[in-house]
Amino acid sequence: MDRRLCLITGASAGIGAEFARQYAALGWDVALTARRKDRLEELATEIESKYGVHAICIVQDLARANSADKILSTLSEQDRHVDALVNNAGYGLPGTFFNTSWKSQAEFLRVLYTAPIELAHKVLPGMSDRGYGRIINVASLAGYAPGSNGHTLYASVKAGLIKFSESLNAECEALDGADIHCTALCPGFTYSEFHDVNGTREQMKSMNKRMWMEAGPVVKAGIDAVNRGQPVVVPGVVNKGLATLTRLMPEPLGRAIMRRQSRTIRRQD
Ligand SMILES: NC(=O)c1ccc[n+]([C@@H]2O[C@H](COP(=O)([O-])OP(=O)(O)OC[C@H]3O[C@@H](n4cnc5c(N)ncnc54)[C@H](OP(=O)(O)O)[C@@H]3O)[C@@H](O)[C@H]2O)c1
Repeated sequence: MDRRLCLITGASAGIGAEFARQYAALGWDVALTARRKDRLEELATEIESKYGVHAICIVQDLARANSADKILSTLSEQDRHVDALVNNAGYGLPGTFFNTSWKSQAEFLRVLYTAPIELAHKVLPGMSDRGYGRIINVASLAGYAPGSNGHTLYASVKAGLIKFSESLNAECEALDGADIHCTALCPGFTYSEFHDVNGTREQMKSMNKRMWMEAGPVVKAGIDAVNRGQPVVVPGVVNKGLATLTRLMPEPLGRAIMRRQSRTIRRQD
């Protein structure tokens, strides 16, 4: 019998690569997708030799309109279905909303919001037929925080993913007899390539080390939460504290703090 299969977007680096390793360590086959073929193949070789499971590489750019269909048809051509979906691919746009081209922002919305939702929509019928499914949407602590100067699209997209996950999890709970759950994983600062890609590595060096987590415990928190049926999880004690604070703080005070912080953690060009 086939092993269960987990499809992970953004598997070529950081949190996504760690999801691939942890699902493989649990004895799952993995389907790895991202744009960098060499990185996917390197990870697939590592995973297959270390865990003895099968790793499928699918090179796709999620900014392209038909990428979700192409990913899923590659799997069905190999007679595989998705038992778990990790919508993880993401990045931060470096500049402001005002000064960033619409093309870049439309691609950003596609990669971080539309494609994850489309993938979820397209794997759910199969999960429902088989009575089993896991969907993890990698959101962010930024989705909890008050709006800040510069995180204009990022925070709103991540907030949307949190709400989407909560509602979808509730919808899945209502499916008769099915063991299907959806969780928004909301990491804070996590060691990965994220801050190299968005050009804020220098600013990040001034952040307190206690604010940072390794990808390992972040990913484990996500897998444990979705197996429990928990709709939202914030990994780590410091991040949990920050999430609670943002909920309790008067909104104008939260916005004022974020405005001041924006200058230190965001490029404003
Ligand atoms: N690191 C943090 O501090 C942090 C905090 C909160 C939330 N997050 C979230 O965690 C998720 C993973 O980020 P990370 O920290 O692991 O960053 P990362 O190390 O930079 O990895 C990002 C992944 O997304 C993929 N990706 C980017 N654009 C893509 C596209 N157009 N099509 C397909 N794949 C694409 C990249 O692969 P290719 O370049 O090969 O395509 C890469 O595999 C993101 O959703 C991010 O928003 C990160």
